[in-house]
Amino acid sequence: MSATKIDGRAYAQTLRQSVFKAVGALPAQPSLAVVLVGDDPASHVYVASKIKFTQECGMRSVEHKLPATASEEDVIAIVRALNQDAEIDGILVQLPLPKDINSDRVIEEIHPDKDVDGLTEVSAGRLSLGKPGLRPCTPTGCVMLAKDQLGDLSGKHCVVLGRSILVGKPAAMLFLEQNCTVTIAHSRTKNLEALCRSADILVPAVGLPQMVKGDWVKPGACVIDVGINRVPSMKNPGKTRLVGDADYKSCRKVAGAITPVPGGVGPMTIACLLRNTVIAACSRRGWDTPSELGF
Ligand code: GUN
Repeated sequence: MSATKIDGRAYAQTLRQSVFKAVGALPAQPSLAVVLVGDDPASHVYVASKIKFTQECGMRSVEHKLPATASEEDVIAIVRALNQDAEIDGILVQLPLPKDINSDRVIEEIHPDKDVDGLTEVSAGRLSLGKPGLRPCTPTGCVMLAKDQLGDLSGKHCVVLGRSILVGKPAAMLFLEQNCTVTIAHSRTKNLEALCRSADILVPAVGLPQMVKGDWVKPGACVIDVGINRVPSMKNPGKTRLVGDADYKSCRKVAGAITPVPGGVGPMTIACLLRNTVIAACSRRGWDTPSELGF
């Protein structure tokens, strides 16, 4: 048996089309501000994609690029100005920030109603209290792909591997919101393989290349692989390739469905950011949130 390959690229494209349609029906154009500090090449690539897709969806993109020498106060001053700017609906501070800047302090400056990354303490609190709010993008993408594959998730056992603030913890809360029975596993978890084998939905999010092997997976389970790890390529010496936290080759023989890396969860992050920007704009400006963005 071979698992269904979950096409995150196609799902993300469909979601962006829904965002585009929704934006066209709004009374005004939502705006997303992106703050990029320093010259991390990967961050520049991510931000370029975010800007491109924001514009493709019919929204306004505002960019603030600061040199690596910018101080924490410089970045905070920009965030505060964006908070005050009535034209701005969403603020995203690209991470990681240069090491001398305290990212927690910067993130906390973002007004929760414009926190389209869902990273502030208020957003995390709203999520854990089950109150409406902006949800973190990558975990939202994971739930969307699982729901698309399995339909109603009620009662399913979801094992989230990893307890990071960016992915593991919010993913667990979001699967709980879908009425899953959720277990969060981490580096100190006992009998990890057996626990993973009990999962109907397995969500590895630890950043360890190909850690989850096929015999960790319950036959027919759905594997939503959050890992994006760069490893040396065997086929092309001197080159690298991307792999997930799941060993795709062995897992796909056992799972019912699995996300590939790349092309699985990754593309969902930006699509959910665009969705959050529309949600933030509607909520701030008192417009009805378009129903086709719901899931
Ligand atoms: N850097 C890598 N991924 C992300 C993300 O989803 N949001 C932010 N703000 N920075 C990132």
